[in-house]
Amino acid sequence: MKKITVGAMLLSMMFVGVKAQSLKSPDGKFEMNFQLKNGVPYYNLTYNGGVVVEDSKLGLRLFKDTAIKFASEIAKPEDAKFDLNNGFAKVDEKRDSKNETWQPVLGEKKNYINNYNELAVTLNQASTDRSIVVKFRLFNDGLGFRYEFPQQKNLNYFVIREEDSEIDFPTDMKAWWLVADYDSQEYQYQETKVSEIPAKWDQAFDANASQSLVKNAVQSPLMLKREGKEPLYINVAEAAVLDYPASHLEVDAQNFRFKTHLTADRQGAKGYIQTPSTTPWRTIIVAPKAEQVMDSKMIFNLNEPTKYTDTSYIHPTKYMGVWWEMIIGKSQWAYSTAENVHIDKTDFSKLTPNGKHAANNTKVKEYIDFAAENGFQGLLIEGWNIGWEDWFGHSKDFVFDFITPYPDFDIKMLNDYAHSKGIKLIMHHETSGSAANYERWSDKAFQLMNKYGYDAVKTGYVGDIIPRGEHHYSQWTINHYYRIAEKANEYKIMVNSHESVRPTGESRTYPNYISAEAARGTEYEAFGGNKPDHQTVLPFTRWMGGSMDYTPGIFQTKLDYYFPGDKRFVKTTLAKQLALYVTMYMPLQMAADLPENYKKHMDAFQFIKDVAADWDDTKILSAEPGDYVITARKAKGTENWFVGGITDENKREYTVDFSFLDKGKKYEATIYEDGKDADYIDNPQSYNIYKKEITSKSKINFKMVRSGGFAVSIKPVK
Ligand code: NOJ
Ligand code: CA
Repeated sequence: MKKITVGAMLLSMMFVGVKAQSLKSPDGKFEMNFQLKNGVPYYNLTYNGGVVVEDSKLGLRLFKDTAIKFASEIAKPEDAKFDLNNGFAKVDEKRDSKNETWQPVLGEKKNYINNYNELAVTLNQASTDRSIVVKFRLFNDGLGFRYEFPQQKNLNYFVIREEDSEIDFPTDMKAWWLVADYDSQEYQYQETKVSEIPAKWDQAFDANASQSLVKNAVQSPLMLKREGKEPLYINVAEAAVLDYPASHLEVDAQNFRFKTHLTADRQGAKGYIQTPSTTPWRTIIVAPKAEQVMDSKMIFNLNEPTKYTDTSYIHPTKYMGVWWEMIIGKSQWAYSTAENVHIDKTDFSKLTPNGKHAANNTKVKEYIDFAAENGFQGLLIEGWNIGWEDWFGHSKDFVFDFITPYPDFDIKMLNDYAHSKGIKLIMHHETSGSAANYERWSDKAFQLMNKYGYDAVKTGYVGDIIPRGEHHYSQWTINHYYRIAEKANEYKIMVNSHESVRPTGESRTYPNYISAEAARGTEYEAFGGNKPDHQTVLPFTRWMGGSMDYTPGIFQTKLDYYFPGDKRFVKTTLAKQLALYVTMYMPLQMAADLPENYKKHMDAFQFIKDVAADWDDTKILSAEPGDYVITARKAKGTENWFVGGITDENKREYTVDFSFLDKGKKYEATIYEDGKDADYIDNPQSYNIYKKEITSKSKINFKMVRSGGFAVSIKPVK
C-alpha cells in the first residue's frame, strides 16, 4: 500500500463533506465520484465497493497564446491563469444513459452493445469566465471520460501545453508495458510491477527508424493486473483520438499513479483547439477476468457511428503478398543499383537492374496463380513503384509519386491477369514518412487505383515524418491518417496503415480503415525477434482499439533455410502460426510466407484457406496476458466455428469445452496441433492433423509445446 502522510490525511479530511457527484454503471457494480476540491476537479472509481482508482486530478495546462515559438516558451508562474485546472465552480450537471446495439461493418461479433450511464459536469472558472464540461460515461466494463470545450466568448482558440488527467491506483500492480515514444510502438512488451517501471525502462527498447522516447512514461493501451485472491484486470487506454495528439502515461512509481502525456508537435505544442471541441476519451476498463477485458468493446462504443453513406465496398480480405521475401532480405523493393534517383527526372528504364527486384511480371504472376488456386481475395505487391533506390534515411520529401510503376511491372497486364483469376491486387503506398508528399499525390494515386481495379491500399510511414519535426502520433499527423481514410472512402478504397498511430476504436467511424500495424509485427522476427509471449499480450494492448495487420502464417520459421548459417528464426511452432488467425482478430488477414513453403505443407495450409476473417460471434475461452490466449469464433453468416490457442515460452495444456456449439447438432472438427516432438526452437514444423466428430458436449484436451498452439476448424455435419 501507499504511504499516506499525515498532512495528506488531514488535507483529505478537510474535504469531508464536500459534495460529490456520483455515477453508477448500469449493473450498479461500478461507481464514479466527481468532486471539486478547492476548485480543482477530481474523480475516483470503485468496483463492487472496492477502490479501483483513488481521487485523481483532472485538468489541462495551456499556452498563453496561439501564435508563439513554443519550444522556447517556458511556463511562468503568472501563466497559470491560462490553465484549465483550477479555480472552478460547478455550474451545471446533466445526466443521460444509453442502451443500444450496433453492428460493426466488420467485427468480432455481429452486435456490439453500448450501454452506459453518463454524467456531464459544467465547470466555470470565475477568474477568466471560461466554462468546460467534464463528461463521464460509466459502462458495465469500465469508465470513459473526456473534456468538452463549448464555444464561448472567452474560449475560442487555444493551444494545449499538457493534459494532466491522472489515474491514481491504490496499490502496486503487475503491468504489461511498452516504453513511450512519439514515433513508434514497435517494441517488446515488458512485464514488471508498476513500481519497477523506472528501473527497467532504460533496458526496455531497441533502435527504431524513427524514435522519440519519453523517459519513464509508457504507451497506451497499458495492461495491469491487481494480483491477490480477487484479482482485477485493468486496461488503461483512450478512445476516439481525432484532431488531437495520441497520449502516453507518465509513471509515478511510488504512488502507482499515471498521468497523461500528450505527443508534442514540432514546436512542443500538444494540440491546437478551436471550440466547440472535445478531447479523446480516457478509458479505464476493469474486470475480474482477463477474458472480459479482451472482450470489451468500450473503446469502440466511445467512437461516433459512421457517417459514410456506402460501406458496401468494405469486405474482409484474406491476402498473400510479394513481401516476406523482401523482409528477410532474399529480394529487394528497389529495381536498380542506383543510389540517388529523382522521381521526376530519372529514366528508370535506363538504370542497371539489381537482379533482385521481386515485383516483376513473372514473379507476380506466380504469386497470383498460387493465391487464386487457394481461394485468396487479395495479393499485396510492394516495390511496384519507382523510388525505392533511396527511399529511406535521407529525409527526402519527394520520395515517391505513387503512380509510376517500375519498368518490369506491367500494371495493366498484371491487374487484368489477377482479375481474370478472381484476385485483386493490393496497392502499396510507402510514404517513407513524407506524409506531406503523400497528400500532394493521394488523389492521383487513388485515381490510378480506381482505373486498374484496386480496392485496398497498405500505407506506410517508415522514418521521421515530413513535415519535419512532426511525429507519428502528433495532432497534424493523426489528422493526416484520417484525411487519407476519408479520401480513400471517396474512391471506395480500404486502408491498412503501417507505422501509423495505434487505433482507438475509430473503425466505427471510419469503417474503411480496416487495419493498421502500429505495433511490433511479424516482420520483427526478421529484425531482432519477438518474444514467445508477444502475441499473448497484444490482444490486451494494441488490439483494444482495433485490429492489427500482424501478418502471420510463417511456416518456414528458420531463416537459415534461405541463408546458411543465419541465426534468425520466427519464435513459434507452425501450429501456433495457424492459431494466430483466430486469437488475433484480423478482417484483413495475411498469409505471409512464400508459396514454396506453403506447397510443402498443404495439409496445414488448409486451415489458413478455411479460416474466416469476419465474425458473427467471438468467445474468449481463456486468456492471461503474457501467458496464453484461447479463442473461439463463429464465421460470419455460417454455422462454422474456429478455435485457436497459443502459449508463451511455457508448454501448457488446455481442454476446450465445446458447449458454445448448438445443442443437438453434429459437427466435424479438423484439429491442427503441435506434434509430440514439436519445439519452437528445435522442431517447429512438427504438427499433427486429425478429424473428429464433436457436439456441444465434447471436450478435447490440447497439449501445446513451448511457444506452440493449436487450431480447430469446425463445420456442421450435413
Ligand atoms: C515497414 C512495414 O511494416 C512493412 O510491412 C513494409 O514492407 C516496409 N515498411 C516497407 O514499406
Ligand atoms: Ca509468460
